[in-house]
Amino acid sequence: MTASTSSPRATGAAVSGVPATRLGPSFDLTAPPAPAAPAPAPAVRVANVSQRYGRGPLVLDDISLDIAPGEFVCLVGASGCGKSTLLNLIAGLDRPAAGTITTPGAGAAVMFQESALMPWLTAQRNVELALKLRGVPRRPRATRARELLDVVALTDAAHKRPHELSGGMRQRVALARALAQERPVLLMDEPFAALDAITRDLLHEELERVWRATGCTVVFVTHNVREAARLGQRVVMLSSRPGRVAREWRIAKTEGRRIESPEVAALSVEITRHLREEIGRNAA
Ligand SMILES: Nc1ncnc2c1ncn2[C@@H]1O[C@H](COP(=O)(O)OP(=O)(O)O)[C@@H](O)[C@H]1O
Ligand SMILES: [Mg+2]
Repeated sequence: MTASTSSPRATGAAVSGVPATRLGPSFDLTAPPAPAAPAPAPAVRVANVSQRYGRGPLVLDDISLDIAPGEFVCLVGASGCGKSTLLNLIAGLDRPAAGTITTPGAGAAVMFQESALMPWLTAQRNVELALKLRGVPRRPRATRARELLDVVALTDAAHKRPHELSGGMRQRVALARALAQERPVLLMDEPFAALDAITRDLLHEELERVWRATGCTVVFVTHNVREAARLGQRVVMLSSRPGRVAREWRIAKTEGRRIESPEVAALSVEITRHLREEIGRNAA
Protein backbone atom coordinates (compact mmCIF):
# COMPACT_ATOMS: atom_id res chain seq x y z
CA MET A 1 0.00 0.00 0.00
CA THR A 2 1.70 3.17 -1.11
CA ALA A 3 1.73 6.51 0.58
CA SER A 4 -0.28 8.75 -1.64
CA THR A 5 -3.49 10.26 -0.53
CA SER A 6 -5.54 12.06 -3.08
CA SER A 7 -8.84 13.57 -2.24
CA PRO A 8 -11.43 15.30 -4.36
CA ARG A 9 -10.62 18.69 -2.92
CA ALA A 10 -7.08 18.23 -1.79
CA THR A 11 -4.87 20.98 -3.07
CA GLY A 12 -1.26 21.78 -2.62
CA ALA A 13 0.14 18.78 -4.46
CA ALA A 14 3.71 19.19 -5.65
CA VAL A 15 3.90 20.34 -9.26
CA SER A 16 5.19 16.96 -10.33
CA GLY A 17 1.92 15.50 -9.15
CA VAL A 18 -0.30 17.90 -11.06
CA PRO A 19 -1.68 16.54 -14.31
CA ALA A 20 -0.27 18.42 -17.29
CA THR A 21 -3.74 19.52 -18.35
CA ARG A 22 -4.06 21.58 -15.18
CA LEU A 23 -0.81 23.46 -15.64
CA GLY A 24 -2.21 25.83 -18.25
CA PRO A 25 -0.69 27.18 -21.45
CA SER A 26 1.70 29.59 -19.73
CA PHE A 27 3.51 26.87 -17.85
CA ASP A 28 7.20 27.07 -18.76
CA LEU A 29 8.83 23.67 -18.79
CA THR A 30 12.30 25.27 -18.64
CA ALA A 31 11.56 27.13 -15.43
CA PRO A 32 12.81 25.65 -12.19
CA PRO A 33 10.10 23.69 -10.43
CA ALA A 34 7.93 25.83 -8.26
CA PRO A 35 8.27 25.10 -4.55
CA ALA A 36 5.66 22.67 -3.35
CA ALA A 37 2.65 24.52 -2.02
CA PRO A 38 2.15 24.05 1.69
CA ALA A 39 -0.15 21.20 2.62
CA PRO A 40 -3.72 22.42 3.18
CA ALA A 41 -4.78 22.91 6.76
CA PRO A 42 -6.35 19.70 7.99
CA ALA A 43 -10.12 19.50 8.09
CA VAL A 44 -9.88 17.71 11.41
CA ARG A 45 -6.92 17.88 13.75
CA VAL A 46 -6.75 15.65 16.79
CA ALA A 47 -3.74 16.65 18.85
CA ASN A 48 -2.50 14.61 21.83
CA VAL A 49 -6.01 13.66 22.87
CA SER A 50 -6.59 11.45 25.88
CA GLN A 51 -9.90 10.49 27.39
CA ARG A 52 -11.27 8.60 30.37
CA TYR A 53 -14.75 8.29 31.81
CA GLY A 54 -14.94 9.57 35.36
CA ARG A 55 -12.17 7.92 37.36
CA GLY A 56 -12.06 4.94 35.09
CA PRO A 57 -9.03 3.76 33.13
CA LEU A 58 -7.61 5.70 30.22
CA VAL A 59 -9.76 4.94 27.17
CA LEU A 60 -7.78 7.01 24.63
CA ASP A 61 -4.12 7.73 25.17
CA ASP A 62 -2.38 10.58 23.36
CA ILE A 63 -4.08 10.28 19.99
CA SER A 64 -2.86 12.59 17.24
CA LEU A 65 -4.44 12.49 13.82
CA ASP A 66 -4.66 15.02 10.99
CA ILE A 67 -7.38 14.47 8.42
CA ALA A 68 -7.07 16.38 5.15
CA PRO A 69 -9.99 18.24 3.57
CA GLY A 70 -11.91 15.81 1.40
CA GLU A 71 -10.16 12.77 2.82
CA PHE A 72 -12.02 9.53 3.57
CA VAL A 73 -10.57 7.98 6.71
CA CYS A 74 -11.73 4.74 8.28
CA LEU A 75 -11.07 4.07 11.95
CA VAL A 76 -10.89 0.38 12.82
CA GLY A 77 -10.25 -1.42 16.06
CA ALA A 78 -11.59 -4.08 18.36
CA SER A 79 -14.90 -3.56 20.06
CA GLY A 80 -14.47 -1.29 23.08
CA CYS A 81 -11.15 0.20 21.94
CA GLY A 82 -12.52 3.73 21.93
CA LYS A 83 -13.62 4.35 18.33
CA SER A 84 -16.96 5.86 19.31
CA THR A 85 -15.31 7.81 22.09
CA LEU A 86 -12.95 9.39 19.56
CA LEU A 87 -15.71 10.08 17.04
CA ASN A 88 -17.88 11.69 19.70
CA LEU A 89 -14.98 13.93 20.66
CA ILE A 90 -14.49 14.98 17.03
CA ALA A 91 -18.24 15.62 16.81
CA GLY A 92 -17.97 17.88 19.86
CA LEU A 93 -20.44 15.72 21.80
CA ASP A 94 -17.89 15.34 24.58
CA ARG A 95 -14.72 17.07 25.71
CA PRO A 96 -11.33 15.39 25.88
CA ALA A 97 -9.60 15.01 29.25
CA ALA A 98 -6.41 16.22 27.56
CA GLY A 99 -5.39 17.49 24.14
CA THR A 100 -7.25 19.50 21.53
CA ILE A 101 -9.56 18.84 18.62
CA THR A 102 -9.97 21.27 15.75
CA THR A 103 -12.79 20.99 13.25
CA PRO A 104 -14.06 23.48 10.65
CA GLY A 105 -16.20 26.32 11.94
CA ALA A 106 -19.24 24.86 10.23
CA GLY A 107 -18.81 21.67 12.25
CA ALA A 108 -19.70 18.10 11.39
CA ALA A 109 -22.78 16.03 10.65
CA VAL A 110 -22.97 12.73 12.50
CA MET A 111 -24.56 9.45 11.52
CA PHE A 112 -24.94 6.47 13.84
CA GLN A 113 -25.82 2.79 13.54
CA GLU A 114 -29.42 3.62 14.38
CA SER A 115 -30.99 6.05 11.95
CA ALA A 116 -32.67 7.99 14.79
CA LEU A 117 -35.35 9.32 12.46
CA MET A 118 -38.48 10.98 13.81
CA PRO A 119 -40.95 8.08 13.62
CA TRP A 120 -44.00 10.28 13.00
CA LEU A 121 -42.43 12.12 10.07
CA THR A 122 -42.14 10.87 6.50
CA ALA A 123 -38.71 10.43 4.92
CA GLN A 124 -39.23 13.73 3.13
CA ARG A 125 -40.19 15.54 6.34
CA ASN A 126 -37.27 14.05 8.25
CA VAL A 127 -34.90 15.56 5.70
CA GLU A 128 -36.84 18.82 5.65
CA LEU A 129 -36.48 19.06 9.41
CA ALA A 130 -32.68 19.18 9.08
CA LEU A 131 -33.07 21.92 6.47
CA LYS A 132 -35.49 23.82 8.69
CA LEU A 133 -33.00 23.72 11.55
CA ARG A 134 -30.53 25.36 9.17
CA GLY A 135 -33.03 28.11 8.46
CA VAL A 136 -33.88 27.07 4.87
CA PRO A 137 -37.28 28.57 3.94
CA ARG A 138 -40.23 26.24 3.39
CA ARG A 139 -40.41 26.17 -0.42
CA PRO A 140 -36.74 25.56 -1.21
CA ARG A 141 -36.76 23.14 1.73
CA ALA A 142 -39.21 20.81 0.02
CA THR A 143 -37.33 20.96 -3.28
CA ARG A 144 -33.96 20.38 -1.64
CA ALA A 145 -35.28 17.47 0.44
CA ARG A 146 -36.56 15.81 -2.73
CA GLU A 147 -33.17 16.31 -4.39
CA LEU A 148 -31.40 14.75 -1.43
CA LEU A 149 -33.75 11.78 -1.43
CA ASP A 150 -32.94 11.39 -5.14
CA VAL A 151 -29.24 11.38 -4.29
CA VAL A 152 -29.72 8.44 -1.93
CA ALA A 153 -32.04 6.65 -4.39
CA LEU A 154 -35.18 7.07 -2.30
CA THR A 155 -37.34 9.14 -4.63
CA ASP A 156 -40.22 6.69 -4.41
CA ALA A 157 -40.14 6.40 -0.64
CA ALA A 158 -40.35 10.11 0.14
CA HIS A 159 -43.81 9.80 1.69
CA LYS A 160 -43.19 6.73 3.79
CA ARG A 161 -42.65 6.82 7.52
CA PRO A 162 -39.62 5.12 9.06
CA HIS A 163 -41.57 1.98 10.12
CA GLU A 164 -42.54 1.44 6.47
CA LEU A 165 -38.91 1.47 5.37
CA SER A 166 -36.27 -1.27 5.45
CA GLY A 167 -33.15 -0.81 7.58
CA GLY A 168 -31.14 0.12 4.48
CA MET A 169 -33.72 2.68 3.42
CA ARG A 170 -33.77 4.20 6.89
CA GLN A 171 -30.00 4.61 6.80
CA ARG A 172 -30.34 6.23 3.37
CA VAL A 173 -32.76 8.75 4.86
CA ALA A 174 -30.30 9.32 7.70
CA LEU A 175 -27.58 9.94 5.11
CA ALA A 176 -29.81 12.39 3.22
CA ARG A 177 -30.54 14.13 6.51
CA ALA A 178 -26.82 14.33 7.31
CA LEU A 179 -26.14 15.77 3.84
CA ALA A 180 -28.93 18.31 4.37
CA GLN A 181 -26.84 19.84 7.13
CA GLU A 182 -24.21 20.77 4.51
CA ARG A 183 -21.35 20.42 6.92
CA PRO A 184 -17.85 19.98 5.53
CA VAL A 185 -17.23 16.90 7.67
CA LEU A 186 -19.33 13.75 7.88
CA LEU A 187 -18.74 11.53 10.91
CA MET A 188 -20.14 8.01 10.69
CA ASP A 189 -20.19 5.51 13.55
CA GLU A 190 -20.79 2.00 12.21
CA PRO A 191 -23.68 3.31 10.12
CA PHE A 192 -24.15 0.09 8.14
CA ALA A 193 -23.34 -2.45 10.86
CA ALA A 194 -26.93 -3.63 11.23
CA LEU A 195 -27.54 -4.14 7.51
CA ASP A 196 -27.33 -7.32 5.48
CA ALA A 197 -24.25 -7.71 3.29
CA ILE A 198 -25.93 -6.92 -0.02
CA THR A 199 -27.61 -3.77 1.25
CA ARG A 200 -24.34 -2.74 2.83
CA ASP A 201 -22.52 -3.13 -0.51
CA LEU A 202 -25.09 -0.90 -2.18
CA LEU A 203 -24.76 1.72 0.51
CA HIS A 204 -20.97 1.64 0.19
CA GLU A 205 -21.38 2.50 -3.48
CA GLU A 206 -23.83 5.26 -2.69
CA LEU A 207 -21.70 6.73 0.06
CA GLU A 208 -18.65 6.69 -2.20
CA ARG A 209 -20.58 8.42 -4.97
CA VAL A 210 -21.88 11.08 -2.57
CA TRP A 211 -18.42 11.61 -1.12
CA ARG A 212 -16.86 12.06 -4.55
CA ALA A 213 -19.66 14.41 -5.62
CA THR A 214 -19.58 16.60 -2.51
CA GLY A 215 -15.88 16.47 -1.67
CA CYS A 216 -16.72 16.32 2.03
CA THR A 217 -14.34 14.88 4.59
CA VAL A 218 -15.49 11.54 5.96
CA VAL A 219 -14.44 9.84 9.18
CA PHE A 220 -15.99 6.38 9.16
CA VAL A 221 -15.80 4.14 12.22
CA THR A 222 -16.18 0.41 11.79
CA HIS A 223 -15.06 -2.83 13.41
CA ASN A 224 -15.49 -4.44 9.99
CA VAL A 225 -12.03 -4.56 8.46
CA ARG A 226 -13.29 -5.42 5.02
CA GLU A 227 -15.59 -2.43 5.04
CA ALA A 228 -12.68 -0.16 6.02
CA ALA A 229 -10.53 -1.59 3.22
CA ARG A 230 -13.39 -1.11 0.78
CA LEU A 231 -14.09 2.52 1.66
CA GLY A 232 -11.07 4.31 3.07
CA GLN A 233 -8.33 6.29 1.40
CA ARG A 234 -6.63 5.76 4.73
CA VAL A 235 -7.34 3.15 7.35
CA VAL A 236 -6.27 4.00 10.89
CA MET A 237 -6.13 1.13 13.35
CA LEU A 238 -6.55 1.81 17.06
CA SER A 239 -5.09 -0.43 19.74
CA SER A 240 -7.15 -1.36 22.79
CA ARG A 241 -6.91 -0.41 26.44
CA PRO A 242 -5.89 2.24 26.01
CA GLY A 243 -6.78 3.27 22.48
CA ARG A 244 -3.76 4.53 20.58
CA VAL A 245 -3.05 4.90 16.89
CA ALA A 246 -1.38 1.55 16.32
CA ARG A 247 -0.87 1.65 12.57
CA GLU A 248 -2.26 3.13 9.39
CA TRP A 249 -2.53 2.24 5.74
CA ARG A 250 -2.89 4.63 2.82
CA ILE A 251 -4.53 3.39 -0.33
CA ALA A 252 -3.25 4.97 -3.52
CA LYS A 253 -5.99 3.94 -5.89
CA THR A 254 -9.52 3.95 -4.57
CA GLU A 255 -11.55 4.24 -7.76
CA GLY A 256 -13.50 1.22 -8.86
CA ARG A 257 -13.03 -0.75 -5.65
CA ARG A 258 -15.65 -3.31 -4.76
CA ILE A 259 -15.99 -5.36 -1.63
CA GLU A 260 -14.89 -8.40 -3.66
CA SER A 261 -11.88 -6.69 -5.30
CA PRO A 262 -8.61 -8.60 -4.81
CA GLU A 263 -6.83 -5.51 -3.47
CA VAL A 264 -9.58 -5.01 -0.89
CA ALA A 265 -9.25 -8.66 0.15
CA ALA A 266 -5.46 -8.38 0.38
CA LEU A 267 -5.61 -5.24 2.51
CA SER A 268 -8.27 -6.82 4.76
CA VAL A 269 -6.03 -9.82 5.34
CA GLU A 270 -3.17 -7.57 6.33
CA ILE A 271 -5.23 -5.34 8.63
CA THR A 272 -6.87 -8.38 10.23
CA ARG A 273 -3.46 -9.90 10.93
CA HIS A 274 -2.35 -6.76 12.75
CA LEU A 275 -5.65 -6.50 14.58
CA ARG A 276 -5.35 -10.10 15.76
CA GLU A 277 -1.84 -9.42 17.03
CA GLU A 278 -3.16 -6.37 18.82
CA ILE A 279 -6.05 -8.27 20.40
CA GLY A 280 -3.68 -11.10 21.32
CA ARG A 281 -1.37 -8.65 23.05
CA ASN A 282 -4.27 -7.40 25.11
CA ALA A 283 -5.57 -10.81 26.00
CA ALA A 284 -2.09 -11.93 27.08
N1 LIG B 1 -20.32 6.81 28.81
C1 LIG B 1 -19.40 5.94 29.21
N2 LIG B 1 -19.11 5.78 30.53
C2 LIG B 1 -18.18 4.92 30.94
N3 LIG B 1 -17.44 4.15 30.13
C3 LIG B 1 -17.67 4.25 28.81
C4 LIG B 1 -18.66 5.14 28.29
N4 LIG B 1 -18.66 5.05 26.93
C5 LIG B 1 -17.74 4.13 26.63
N5 LIG B 1 -17.12 3.66 27.75
C6 LIG B 1 -16.04 2.66 27.80
O1 LIG B 1 -14.98 3.18 27.03
C7 LIG B 1 -14.37 2.15 26.28
C8 LIG B 1 -14.44 2.53 24.79
O2 LIG B 1 -15.80 2.53 24.37
P1 LIG B 1 -16.24 2.92 22.90
O3 LIG B 1 -15.62 4.19 22.55
O4 LIG B 1 -17.71 2.82 22.87
O5 LIG B 1 -15.55 1.73 22.06
P2 LIG B 1 -15.85 1.24 20.56
O6 LIG B 1 -16.70 2.25 19.90
O7 LIG B 1 -14.48 1.11 19.96
O8 LIG B 1 -16.50 -0.10 20.67
C9 LIG B 1 -15.10 0.88 26.61
O9 LIG B 1 -14.38 0.21 27.59
C10 LIG B 1 -16.43 1.37 27.14
O10 LIG B 1 -16.95 0.46 28.07
MG1 LIG C 1 -18.58 2.07 19.04
